[in-house]
Amino acid sequence: HLFGYNTNRVSGFFEPIEPSDSDQLLLPRNYKYDVVAAFDDVINKKGERFGAGSDYNAYFPIDGSNTRGLLVNNHEYTDIFSIGPVVDGKMTAKQIEQNLYYQGMSVIEVYRDENGVWKMDTNSKYARRINGFTRFELTGPAAGSDAVGKAKTVQGTFANCSGGVTLWGTVLSCEENFEETAEVSGLNPTHYGWVVEIDPFDGKYLKKHTALGRFHHENTAMGLAKDGRVVVYMGDDKKDACVYKFVSKGKYNAAKGRANAALLEDGTLYVASLKSGAWLPVTIDAVKKALADSKFKAPSGVSGSREELLAKFRTQADVVTHCHEAALIVGGTPTDRPEDIEISPFDNTVFICHTNNDSHGNIHGHITRIFENGDNLAAESFDFEIFAAGGRQSGFSSPDNLAFDSNGSLWVVTDISSGSLNKGVYKSFKNNGLFVIPTAGPAKGEALQFASGPRECEMTGPFFTPDEQTLFLSIQHPGENTTDLNNPTSRWPHRKGDTKARSAVVAISGFKRNG
Ligand code: FEO
Ligand code: CA
Ligand code: CA
Ligand code: CA
Repeated sequence: HLFGYNTNRVSGFFEPIEPSDSDQLLLPRNYKYDVVAAFDDVINKKGERFGAGSDYNAYFPIDGSNTRGLLVNNHEYTDIFSIGPVVDGKMTAKQIEQNLYYQGMSVIEVYRDENGVWKMDTNSKYARRINGFTRFELTGPAAGSDAVGKAKTVQGTFANCSGGVTLWGTVLSCEENFEETAEVSGLNPTHYGWVVEIDPFDGKYLKKHTALGRFHHENTAMGLAKDGRVVVYMGDDKKDACVYKFVSKGKYNAAKGRANAALLEDGTLYVASLKSGAWLPVTIDAVKKALADSKFKAPSGVSGSREELLAKFRTQADVVTHCHEAALIVGGTPTDRPEDIEISPFDNTVFICHTNNDSHGNIHGHITRIFENGDNLAAESFDFEIFAAGGRQSGFSSPDNLAFDSNGSLWVVTDISSGSLNKGVYKSFKNNGLFVIPTAGPAKGEALQFASGPRECEMTGPFFTPDEQTLFLSIQHPGENTTDLNNPTSRWPHRKGDTKARSAVVAISGFKRNG
């Protein structure tokens, strides 16, 4: 077991910190962080630059190493520090280009030097940018279909929020709030909002898997059903949107390595009904069946008459491309902004951050825990509980990304919007934080604060090295409310001579083994 904790909030392994409103990344005593890569840092010999709005992280050991590997980072959006002020809400041609360049993903090589400091190796042969100009192959039912203008390949990825790793060593990256960039760039919106797959060690491998649906993807959580089919849980991070899972048709075969990725091209997409505890297939047959009822009334969130919807949904390509509406039509339950989902490696229960939804008065959000029937990830029915609720008593608000450690604890980052931080009902939480919540044992459900971020940031993408001696974490949008570059609201990471706040990835070390 790593990271011992106990129930009286005084741990021999980390002493929880208090909330803070300072412009610093604060950690418990005896822990430290190194900034591995920050916005606009050169990442390779070609001179490519690290993108903006760092989010998801995934570490891939090189030759099994816990101290040298590839780090994949998502770049979700640009800001005033990366493209400058947008005057009258209209980007210049140069800003449109920068906006596409600084979003997407970075693959960088990182290592811990002889002094225990984590650094980026800019001589890496693997380091590269993937951005709004990179070409992707579409797979699955929408590839080449009318729903995507018959496209088989598309330009670029952007709005890359969280993600997940696959069982075969690749990364899934999730396109979330893609609309604005697609619109200002004159790009077809149905080419975005998908799950992207890249191989950190192979720059030519670039796919978008349409079988996993098109919506405001937060992340993916992949596991195996009892019979060996691959299951991928996904949230649609929007108010009153649904929780999904994809179950592959074929079975995983470890010996096939990356060829298992074909499993993401053919399978069944399901949406959760929290009313009946059922996983409902989001298929053209199910949509047509619902619309065949002459008494059909479009649920809230779906516009159009029955006839218009029958014309809109003709094929599975239409269903995956307009997934949110299809899911509501077949009976999916609208929920309070499902962000990250993680599968417990201990008992196959599934944790979902419902971050908040002010239109229903769910101000602080909650973490839902799903119990699949028979603990089988491919089950078609489930039960659930509210595992932990945000609020003053629990000490956290607006949970977002999740990671498990091998001690059975969830590491939870919070995302109180930067306009609400340190005000009103959010005042007591101060800046956004990172919390550790045990999922079993006497302290189950109790949140202990491990980190407090700099001003106006959220922390994103917690990811441990295999030996759990390093935690990678992104510091996203410090100083987000800045309107005057001469007077930024944050200057983190406080580089000498630099007045910019910069999103960045840090490596946290100091973890002790619990005898
Ligand atoms: Fe990009 Fe739902 O967070
Ligand atoms: Ca998020
Ligand atoms: Ca969020
Ligand atoms: Ca964010």
